[in-house]
Amino acid sequence: MRVLPSVALAVLAVTLSACSGPGPAPEAPSGAASGATASSGTTASSDTTTSSVPASDRAEPTGKATDLPAPPQRTPVPAASGPATAAPATASPAPPAPGATAHTDPGAVDVVVNKRRPLTPLDYAPADLRRPAVATPTGFDLLRPDAATAVEEMFAAAAADGVGLAMVSGYRSFSDQESTYAYWVGQYGGAAGADTVSARPGYSEHQTGLAFDVAQADGACTLVRCFQDTPAGQWTAAHAADFGFILRYPFGFHEITGFSAESWHFRYVGRDVSLAMKEAGTQTLEEHFGLPPAPSY
Ligand code: DAL
Ligand code: ZN
Repeated sequence: MRVLPSVALAVLAVTLSACSGPGPAPEAPSGAASGATASSGTTASSDTTTSSVPASDRAEPTGKATDLPAPPQRTPVPAASGPATAAPATASPAPPAPGATAHTDPGAVDVVVNKRRPLTPLDYAPADLRRPAVATPTGFDLLRPDAATAVEEMFAAAAADGVGLAMVSGYRSFSDQESTYAYWVGQYGGAAGADTVSARPGYSEHQTGLAFDVAQADGACTLVRCFQDTPAGQWTAAHAADFGFILRYPFGFHEITGFSAESWHFRYVGRDVSLAMKEAGTQTLEEHFGLPPAPSY
């Protein structure tokens, strides 16, 4: 596939600034990398102290995403926990709390991954990834089969409407996410900022092979806030549900999703769910499935 200049520049910036080896997958770091600015009517943030990352690309209007607490690293525990007091040896195990095991199968299209719902196992890797036949200017170009087919259909429909799309980050392994998260920790100078924009390894939807980041084919506003105002951002926001995708991190819902808005991050959930959410006006997967908010780890 042809590598588009701005997208390639963004990817190069991520790779060069992060580490040796393959480098982390984008989410790309900044408007500077893509030539984007914080224009387009977005609200500039006063958070200029943490790093070189333009916080204006990450701020939420109802409170800075960087206000989210920075929890310590911890080892994920099973979602279901036993009774608080010891049960007699002969007693049957306590049943899981209602809903505790729902939407936890990492291979299922209805899996919900967030800061309180790690992948199980933490280093889960899908066995059936494939590369969709679309523009993929980075190396992170794999998806689960149904998601890949839906991407092909969505990108073709966008092209028919005169909107060129590229997929800049699909599946990321546990190891890829380690690099990506470490990159963001470096950019923000710690976990507090990184946790607003990047999932810790084992907690990213990208690791399911069901999520991808979309860019405009010309690279405008790649992985930064002004993407929402581009033709690609507007087209995908309007039509993604028709192909089984939801915008996973909508603007203003970081107290539920745990992450600041990402107008480029789409998650395959199948058309039944995506269209039901659109019909109901439900913005988050947590609300749709009746699961608790996950503002922090
Ligand atoms: N940027 C999203 C939250 C991720 O790292 O999966
Ligand atoms: Zn993403």
